[in-house]
This record gives sequence, structure tokens and C-alpha cells, in this order.
Amino acid sequence: MEGCKRRVCSWWKTSSSSTRVLGFILPLMVVSGLVVLVSSKSSNWLFASNYYPWAWSSVLPGASFSSSGIYGSFENTSSGLIKGFAPPPDDGGSGLELRRRVVGGGERQEAISVDYNLHRIAAPPLAIEVGEAEPPVEKRKEDFILTTNFSNVPPPSKDNRLLPLSSRIHRRFSNLEILEATLQQARAAIRDAQRGNPAYDPDYIPTGPIYWNPSGFHRSYLEMEKHFKVFVYEEGEQPIFHNGPCGSIYSMEGNFIYKLETSKFRTRDPERAHVYFLPFSVTSIVHFIYDKRVHDHWLPMKQTVKDYVDLVAGKYPYWNRSIGSDHVMLSCHDWGPELSKSLPELFKNSIRALCNANTSEGFRPSKDVSIPEINLPGGRTNGLIGGPSPSKRPILVFFAGGLHGPIRPILLEHWENKGQDVQVHRYLPKDVSYSAMMRKSRFCICPSGYEVASPRMVEALYTGCVPVLIKDHYVPPFSDVLNWKSFSVEISVADIPNLKKILTGISMRQYIRMQRRGVAVRRHFEVNLSPKRYDVFHMTLHSIWLRRLNIRLHGVEDS
Ligand SMILES: *[C@@H]1O[C@H](CO)[C@@H](O)[C@H](O)[C@H]1NC(C)=O
Ligand SMILES: *[C@@H]1O[C@H](CO)[C@@H](O)[C@H](O)[C@H]1NC(C)=O
Ligand SMILES: *[C@@H]1O[C@H](CO)[C@@H](O)[C@H](O)[C@H]1NC(C)=O
Ligand SMILES: *[C@@H]1O[C@H](CO)[C@@H](O)[C@H](O)[C@H]1NC(C)=O
Repeated sequence: MEGCKRRVCSWWKTSSSSTRVLGFILPLMVVSGLVVLVSSKSSNWLFASNYYPWAWSSVLPGASFSSSGIYGSFENTSSGLIKGFAPPPDDGGSGLELRRRVVGGGERQEAISVDYNLHRIAAPPLAIEVGEAEPPVEKRKEDFILTTNFSNVPPPSKDNRLLPLSSRIHRRFSNLEILEATLQQARAAIRDAQRGNPAYDPDYIPTGPIYWNPSGFHRSYLEMEKHFKVFVYEEGEQPIFHNGPCGSIYSMEGNFIYKLETSKFRTRDPERAHVYFLPFSVTSIVHFIYDKRVHDHWLPMKQTVKDYVDLVAGKYPYWNRSIGSDHVMLSCHDWGPELSKSLPELFKNSIRALCNANTSEGFRPSKDVSIPEINLPGGRTNGLIGGPSPSKRPILVFFAGGLHGPIRPILLEHWENKGQDVQVHRYLPKDVSYSAMMRKSRFCICPSGYEVASPRMVEALYTGCVPVLIKDHYVPPFSDVLNWKSFSVEISVADIPNLKKILTGISMRQYIRMQRRGVAVRRHFEVNLSPKRYDVFHMTLHSIWLRRLNIRLHGVEDS
């Protein structure tokens, strides 16, 4: 990616010079009568599964509330994907609802209802009723609110209707209506795919147990390619905006910004956009603005983010229209979650694509996106990908790394120097290569460090080593479509003493299956100089697309 290198990575080496002072002008654009109401009257579940505990729903106009789970027909397990996150799915289905408020026309109005649904796999699609004008309820842990009442469930409607484009609706809103109608068609197509109408694809057809729902994902991906448009705010100057690292463990920031800005998904017409991207890099902000001598060192960094959002919220109507719900930020940096708190709406409403998808820090899989941390030392994946077959992997399990965070000391305490087949090290001897060890091992341990994200998961997948995740409160990347259990092992911190027993308990046959799936899933984590379909850039975009499908915005006529 020449552009990425030139634009993004050159300054990275050269200038750490001055903190750019960002002059923001706030032109006051009064948009009269702009009121947007996001209806909470009804909803169609788009994605639902027992073990994919958050579901996609769309909020539709109309009175009835129906649901049909796309992932409803997948095989049966009872455990949630992510421990400590999903409420137990044994109540025959329960909806989780989150409410947000929108400021519109000077009044607070009940605005957005994003609904989560958990159903029993075998049960018919359930419909849900949600009270309309309840005030936001205080949260349970993880921000989910159970408010759904499953009695009087009407049959699922084959809801395919488009929004009537009322002639009374002001022209300014009709663009939004058209956009929403397109999204509604996409939702219908995705639901249709679940009922078994596989789509054609010249490159790749998702299939097999690595996906929760291969055909649902496939159709959703194709719909994204057909329709999805992202507006990237043009305001803001490099190096803090429109810029980010393309190498190092934060490489996803620069890669995504640059690739998005040059992709066909970008639209220059904000009226045609489904989502609005805030093109700052947290790594750049930290690099250029962070000063540890300053007493409150968060303040200047957070002010930068806040000033930017205030700028675009003043200049364009889109932020206020949804209070940030259709706005996207992306960060791989450890401080990304903290900087997203620069504005409460950014934290609560916006789609935050984060490497540090820590549910204890407010990461919400229903609206936020977990992206992988990928270490690209030279900005490229050359030489990182590939590894031998299972029979050429003599070591059972491997880890080497510093004692960051609370989990690793426990791991080392139990497993350092415990024989040939368990290679757990603080530091590798100088003559031993880290990646060679991964290629010789069947399992590679990926524990949290200071933060939940770590590049080890992707390194393991790249080298054909089955990842062993030891992380609390973590949502693995793209787990909205990928079933991590099919190609990785999850071990709780409490089970660290049983590590060897658990891994040797996995039969060679089962191991070979997992390892093959890990190799198959690799394409979704590959970083290509020019993005290729289904690679990490497109998967990130797809996860954002799914979150956007989950909300419905509509204008209120100002007559
Ligand atoms: C689903 O899983 C539960 C619990 O593991 C089991 O009792 C039930 O028989 C399973 N149902 C099907 C259809 O496999
Ligand atoms: C659900 O709704 C029905 C009728 O609308 C009502 O009778 C019932 O008490 C409600 N259940 C709960 C748990 O709110
Ligand atoms: C959005 O709301 C803010 C704060 O209420 C206001 O200052 C700004 O002018 C509004 N933006 C537009 C485009 O109306
Ligand atoms: C995740 O968030 C919790 C709560 O802020 C914090 O205690 C923990 O250290 C974070 N990171 C990890 C790796 O768990």
C-alpha cells in the first residue's frame, strides 16, 4: 500500500515534533425543523442465535412487532459464546433492549430502540412487544436491559414492505427514506438467504462450521457490496486525522482509514451515506498530543476528539439527527475505549470499532465492533502467513511473552518449565524464533496482557497454530459471523491449572478439524495491500454494516 506508506507511515518515523494546534471553526448552520425520530414501535429481528447472544434487529415503522432469527436454524448448543456477557439463554428466548434518547427540535424524544434477541434455536421465530415511551431504564451489567414481553406473540410477518415515500415528507428527508428502504430490502434478502436461497459468488462462498450462518453472512456481505456507503468527514488535518499507523500492533488504524478513503464504499455525498466515519486515529492522537507531564493528560486528547465531533455536528445535520448512532470511530490503541468517552454520545451511541473489545469497559457487541489486533512489523504480511500441517508440529502448546496484566503471571506460575511439550516462557532464548515456535506447536496461548487485545490470535491463525484464548470479558473479532469455538479453544482463568489436561483431551481428529478451520478462516484476517473481498478490511466494514442494519432512522415531516 504505497499510499498507506507514503501518507501514513512516513510521518510516523520523522515527525514527533509539534503538537498540531487544530483550529476549529464552528460554522453555525441552523437547520430548522430537523427532527428525527427513531421509532421504537416495532422491530424485525435480523440475527438471532442461542450462542450468538446478541441479535440484530431493525426498527420498523408500524404497529406490530415481529421477529425472525436468521441464525435460528443453526445447530444446538446451550452455552453462550462469550462468558460473562450473555444472560443464560434458557428462558425460551428473551429480548434485551436498549433505549437511547435523541435530541430533536429542542425536545428530548424517545428515539432509538435497539433490540437484542435470544431465542431457542428450535422455537419458531418469536415476536416481541416493547413498551413505547418508557424512559431509559437503568442498566444491568453490560448495559443490557431486559424489557421484552414474550406473551401474545403474533406470528412472524413476512415483512418486506418498503417505507411509503410520503409526498408530504420534506425533500431533505426523502434521501434518508430511500436509504432506509434500501436497508430494509437488504434485511429481507438476508432473511431470505436463511431460508435456503444460497447466493452465487465468483470468488468465495462461505460455508461450514466456522460461520454461525454461512448463507446469512454471505447474503449480508453481498448486500453490503451492493449498497453500503460510508461518508468520511473531510474536516481535520493530518497527521491526527485521515491518518494512522500502517505498521506495528496498531496497524489496523492506518490501514482502515486509508483503505476506506480510497474504497468504492466511500461516498462524497453525505446524503447518500448509511454511516459517517470520524477519521481520527487514537494512536496518532496519543503520539502527537499526549504529554505525560501535563497534570490531566487525558484532557487535551479528549478535547481533540470532542472538538472534532462538535465541528462536524455544527456543520452537518447528521450527528444531531441520530445523536451519533450512525457514526463510526475505529481504534486499535489501548486508549481507544477511554478516548471514546470524550463525548457521552460517542461512547453510548456510536459504532465503536475497537481492538480492545473489553465488555467490562463498556464494549457492547450489539453496537460496537470487535476488530483484530494485527502486528505488521514492516507494514506487510509477507512471511507471516503459512505453517506446516498438524503432523509436523511436535510441541503441544506454546507461549512466550512478558508478564503484563493479571492473567500471564498465573499462566507462568503453573506452566513455566513444565517439560518439552508445554513451552511456556517469559522470554525466548536469543536463538529461538518466536514464529518458528508457533509453527512447531499445535496450540498457541493467547492470554490478555494489560488489555484484552493481543496480536497473538492472528499470529496463531496466520501460522496454522490453534489459538487458545485465555481472556476475560473479551469479544473476539468478527464473532458476529465467526464461530470462534470451531477453530479456537477458550479456557477460563480458573482453568489454567488444567490447561494440559484440556488440550490433551482434544483428540487428534478433532484437532485436525480445528486446525483446518483455522487455516480456512485466515482469509478474514489477511491484510492486503489492495483490499480483497472477505479480507480484514471488508470484514471490518461488514461488521459496521451489520450494526447499521440494526437501527432504523427516519425523518419526521415538519408539517
Ligand atoms: C440442545 O441442547 C440441549 C442441551 O445440551 C439438549 O438437551 C437438547 O436435546 C439439544 N437439542 C437438539 C435438537 O439437539
Ligand atoms: C406481558 O403482557 C401481558 C399482556 O400484554 C401481561 O398480561 C403480562 O403480565 C406481561 N408480562 C410481563 C412479565 O410483563
Ligand atoms: C447540533 O446540536 C448542537 C448542540 O445542540 C448545536 O450546537 C449544533 O448547531 C447542531 N447542529 C446543527 C447542524 O444544527
Ligand atoms: C478490562 O476492563 C476491566 C474493567 O475496566 C479492567 O479491570 C481490565 O483490566 C480490562 N482489561 C483486561 C485485560 O481485562
